[in-house]
Amino acid sequence: MQKISLNGQWICIPDLENRGIEKGWFIQNNLKKKDTGLLTLDIPKSFNLLEGYEFFEGVFWHYREFEFNPDIDHSNYEYQIMFKGANYNAKVWLNEKFLGEHDGGFTPFRFLINKTLKKGNNFIVVRVDNIRRKNGIPSLYFDWFNWGGIYRDVDLIVLNKNRITDIKIKTEVLSKQKSKIFISFKSRGAFNFKWQILDIDKKSIVFEGIKSTNSSLGKISLILDNPKLWSPSTPNLYYFQIIDISPEVKTNLLFKCHFGIRQIEVHSSYLYLNKKRLMLKGVSLHEEYLPYGRTIPYEKRLEDLRRIKAIGFNAIRTAHYSHDESLIDIADKVGLLILEEIPVYWDCNYKSNDTFKLAAKMLRTLIKRDINHPSVIWWSVGNEIPIHKRECANFIKRLMNFAKMHDSSRLVTYVSRKLTSDLTRKKADIATINTYFGWYFGDMKMLSLILDWMRTPIIFKPWIFTEFGAGAKFGFRDNWKNQTKFSEEYQLNLLDYTIRTINSKDYFSGWFIWIFRDFKSIHRNNEYQQGFNRKGIVSEKSIEKKLICYHLPKILNRKRKTINTKVLGIILWVISFPFSYLITTHLITLLLDILVKNDYKRGIRRLSIF
Ligand code: GCU
Repeated sequence: MQKISLNGQWICIPDLENRGIEKGWFIQNNLKKKDTGLLTLDIPKSFNLLEGYEFFEGVFWHYREFEFNPDIDHSNYEYQIMFKGANYNAKVWLNEKFLGEHDGGFTPFRFLINKTLKKGNNFIVVRVDNIRRKNGIPSLYFDWFNWGGIYRDVDLIVLNKNRITDIKIKTEVLSKQKSKIFISFKSRGAFNFKWQILDIDKKSIVFEGIKSTNSSLGKISLILDNPKLWSPSTPNLYYFQIIDISPEVKTNLLFKCHFGIRQIEVHSSYLYLNKKRLMLKGVSLHEEYLPYGRTIPYEKRLEDLRRIKAIGFNAIRTAHYSHDESLIDIADKVGLLILEEIPVYWDCNYKSNDTFKLAAKMLRTLIKRDINHPSVIWWSVGNEIPIHKRECANFIKRLMNFAKMHDSSRLVTYVSRKLTSDLTRKKADIATINTYFGWYFGDMKMLSLILDWMRTPIIFKPWIFTEFGAGAKFGFRDNWKNQTKFSEEYQLNLLDYTIRTINSKDYFSGWFIWIFRDFKSIHRNNEYQQGFNRKGIVSEKSIEKKLICYHLPKILNRKRKTINTKVLGIILWVISFPFSYLITTHLITLLLDILVKNDYKRGIRRLSIF
């Protein structure tokens, strides 16, 4: 495969009346007539980074010309335009012909252009809008900034019509001395090729063979003795490559990728990596790094993951959507385990089958893109949706089945904020909980009892505490006594106390602090937030490390002292069961808020955690 980058200077223009299609803005002469309002963007780059458009939610048109003068015979090649990410809806024209459109801001998409690409000068037009949609994924409300536009790479891809596709590499750790490598692939056209597996030195050949294809499914199954396993502490990477050996072909290397030999499993309510107990110590990460927006330079992503690893974390959650694939590449090399997610978030339209199809397409595209990355160990099919509602639980269960169908080698879960009424936990490989005791409600001291009560109905499954945190404004210091909310001391105390509590429960196989870096959100506007969600352990300036950062290495290395509280949890559950859903928790909470605090809305909001 050859790649010709279409990154660089594009002309762009806001379509404030949203009439560009009707006015034929995809026709080159119509653009040439426009001499006002034209801007330039150094693609990939969000149009929200343009001065005056910081909060723009609407339509932007992007244009560029490019020369295409191949020195090869066209007939044998397939040409595609590939976008790695554009938010939210993208419509694409090449030489005034409509190629198609794509919904979804975080997964790659491509169009076949053999019929529209010309030798010499070509004219590409991309209309992108970041308008929120009720039937969108995510829908109208979400707690992150709605960066719009072409914010990831754009490439012209040249593919040999005869080629290998859908390469999937699965590994099984059979014992300390033996591992299995299973490679499946599809092929187009008939040709011979050599395949090789290179050792972690990228040179010495571990296995190789010759295959001839005639448009069929291919499989390679190998047993490797004394494998160098992949794990956060030993991120060993092997290489799989395919070389064309047909005499008439010039370019030999057809495909190359790295992979890791590792296996993630759940056994009797614990998590295992390569047959050893695994405790996830994670932190979530939004794809945002100012002043770049979502178009984060490789070295900044590398810096982020190296810092996260150096603090002592072994996992990250790419919240709440798929990040650029370069981040996953870095996690493979640095040695961090990844929970990847699609943005099925809060209140989407779960009754609509079209919404399900869109979610399934996002999931399939993400799995196809990242299936060979050893760092990715589990797929999350959603976050904090109203899961107590039947249609929402069914939506998530269908997505879980869909994920398993496309990848049986990884764990599948849904990230829940419901302490009890989550109808999907029995189906998920891992039970999860997001809850903010001590921040949004209750007191952190209540957490231990609540967790034992919450997990009682889901005993034979590992739990992961997928979100907890506290906001802190960098530089707002307080003394240890009062610990005002939004002070760095309050954040340190809440995170430290919560991690101690989780560590004392042997049914937890891990946790993720919400979140690594403060991030833009239009919902966060008190005097400490100023448009940012401040739960980061570093500020939006990245170099500003909050107090918690200096204590985390010690907190993360603290030995777990688990107290077996299963019996306590069961007793609590039995006592409270007759009342657990409505009478004790819901009504009392509601009554308290109405009578004591006269705050009905707060009461309703608090119901949302049960
Ligand atoms: C939720 C949600 C996050 C949000 C966080 C918060 O659990 O999953 O997207 O940013 O809480 O309130 O800070």
